[in-house]
Amino acid sequence: MDRIRIVGGQALNGVIPISGAKNAALPLMIASLLTDATLTLDNVPRLADGAQLLRILGNHGVDYRIDGKRPGDHPTAGQTVHLDARRIVDTTAPYELVSRMRASFWVVAPILARMGEAKVSLPGGCAIGTRPVDLLIMALERLGAEIEIEAGYVIARAPRGLRGGEIDFPKVTVGGTHTALMAASLAHGHTLIKNAAREPEVVDLADCLIKMGAKIKGAGTSEIEVEGVSRLGGARHAVLPDRIETGTYAMCVAMAGGDVLLQGARPDLLQNALDMIALSGASVAVTPEGVRVARKGGAIAPVNVTTEPFPGFPTDLQAQFMALMTRADGESRIRETIFENRFMHVQELARFGARIRLDNDVAIVTGVKTLKGAPVMATDLRASACLVIAALAAEGETMVNRVYHLDRGFEHLEQKLAGCGAIVERLASPG
Ligand code: EPZ
Repeated sequence: MDRIRIVGGQALNGVIPISGAKNAALPLMIASLLTDATLTLDNVPRLADGAQLLRILGNHGVDYRIDGKRPGDHPTAGQTVHLDARRIVDTTAPYELVSRMRASFWVVAPILARMGEAKVSLPGGCAIGTRPVDLLIMALERLGAEIEIEAGYVIARAPRGLRGGEIDFPKVTVGGTHTALMAASLAHGHTLIKNAAREPEVVDLADCLIKMGAKIKGAGTSEIEVEGVSRLGGARHAVLPDRIETGTYAMCVAMAGGDVLLQGARPDLLQNALDMIALSGASVAVTPEGVRVARKGGAIAPVNVTTEPFPGFPTDLQAQFMALMTRADGESRIRETIFENRFMHVQELARFGARIRLDNDVAIVTGVKTLKGAPVMATDLRASACLVIAALAAEGETMVNRVYHLDRGFEHLEQKLAGCGAIVERLASPG
């Protein structure tokens, strides 16, 4: 298994191009199942999760083509992927494929809406909590689906098609909102989604569905209305920039010091996190090319954060912010309200000498003057990024093991950091 070696203590200076968002690209790719025409997606990041989803879509009969590089293309420019689900050859998403990536469960909505039936393995637990799918099932039932759970599979049927209805989510769910949007787009009649997720990735999916011919109003607010259509067509859509990648690199700079332009970043997608980074003492400036983050000396100030659905502080940046706070000049409190078990990184941060204690859903971080490099283990995707942040400021060498987690969601991480002066290299596994 590959490892990443980082020698801390270098300030970061330069430009980091921001990739397309993983969490937008995945539902957009899944939306290709809604149409027999070609869906072309631009700015798709090269990530292990995307490759895995292509395997899953391929199993359902989706043909895909990825454009190669052309002269003059920027080395980190996103890919263009053409997806063609002319014929869905299999309505089952098997355990072996779905268990490796939770978002693949979302194929249930388009397959059911288009084919009248779908059988999809339950995704199971993962490192950040139990993560049930009861609300996704509830949404499909509200649209007239009959659901059975058998031998670990969700079997959804709507032989006469889905029909519009009212879906009132008791809790904000991104995947539930994606599911409802895709299913309602091809249902007969009108659907009202209440307490919908307002995340930018939901808006990106809705924008693409609208280009495909869907009738959707209110995406980005907590009430979305969908007027079902009988068929969706092809479209071309560019994936929005990754706000979590943006926030992660912003925190790298806030931690290591220096001055970096996050090229192509959209500040409106993570205003709350940028405000917290600014409160910690970094300067954050919006420029025509993106977001510029700098910290020139001075202490890191302690800042309390609470994770919340968008537009609040994202849970997907909680681990990274905790890493930054380990070197703050004082005590900060980080409350996780989205997932019940998203503190796996605490024990790994302790290996750098960080002082963190847990009190239920709150991590109390007492900043220390120095972190020391150590061998550490990535436990999940965002937790891995937090170890990189700590390593950038730690004295000496850190070896991050199990970096396949990073490869799931961060494109060209070593190149992007090394391009700004970090001492970072990937060590391929022997054999
Ligand atoms: C999406 O997951 C993201 N994944 C996650 O990013 C992100 O952390 C999460 O949204 C919250 O922002 C993708 O977009 C691929 P949810 P999702 O449904 O949709 C509970 C990353 O690192 N819930 O919004 O699965 C759930 O347990 C990943 O990129 C139910 O109770 O999350 C959680 O407490 C990790 N029942 C809360 O809702 C359900 O049926 C929010 O989860 C569904 C969810």
